[in-house]
Amino acid sequence: GGAGHVEDYAFSFEGPFGTYDQDQLQRGLQVYTEVCAACHGLKFVPLRTLEDLGYSEEQVRAYSAQFETFDTELDDFRASIPSDHFPEVTAVGAPDLSLMAKARAGFHGPAGTGISQLINGIGGPEYIASLLTHYTGEEEEQAGTILYKNETFPGGLISMAPPLSDELVEYADGTPATVEQMAVDVAAFLMWTAEPKMMDRKQAGLTAVIFLILLSVLLYLTNKKLWAPIK
Ligand code: HEM
Repeated sequence: GGAGHVEDYAFSFEGPFGTYDQDQLQRGLQVYTEVCAACHGLKFVPLRTLEDLGYSEEQVRAYSAQFETFDTELDDFRASIPSDHFPEVTAVGAPDLSLMAKARAGFHGPAGTGISQLINGIGGPEYIASLLTHYTGEEEEQAGTILYKNETFPGGLISMAPPLSDELVEYADGTPATVEQMAVDVAAFLMWTAEPKMMDRKQAGLTAVIFLILLSVLLYLTNKKLWAPIK
């Protein structure tokens, strides 16, 4: 396909009962840390929230220490601690990824109605996973900059070189690190950074819907009973 192609990957967190796959989020964190963090920041994400991915306080403390945070009191950089955030963007032109999964849409239409998004979701993680897996391998030089052909990126030419290649990371849990596996894992992780409370939100929504259905039935019956002698 041409530019704008988005693959509809099946993510575990889709649908009203979908949940994050903790192992996948841990793999996604590994891809982000070892690959994407060289250029992209996650400045809105507090490091301590990594405990939600199943890491202990000790592990999060150790993980945090690999980054540096500017301390205004010391007037200098020091090793990051869990109450700090992930670092900001480090490479020119590389956008912060904290909210990227919600800033991009994978699904559109039909005819601008957004019905596809109502059924399939907005498609942010699908967009990210597709972007990472749909480089054609061709390059083009424009005004002294190398641009890479990509079938997902709008316009078809992106300045980010293909960041993934097979076995670029060695997964701690032994999962084979194909490009597609790493792309889907990091996309799931970026959905979590953008929407860490998704499960709670779904739970609250479902509870509200069940409550409203019950309330509707009760009000209907009450209405029937109240008007029975008059009608
Ligand atoms: C853009 C993800 C690695 C440099 C982007 C975008 C995403 C992304 C989602 C935004 C595309 C858009 O605007 O729709 C990732 C992920 C990575 C990764 C998940 C790791 C697997 C890297 C690395 C570098 C880099 C290692 C630097 C060597 C850039 C740049 C842009 C960009 C410069 C702007 C591209 C443009 O607008 O033409 N990346 N990236 N990225 N990324 Fe990455």
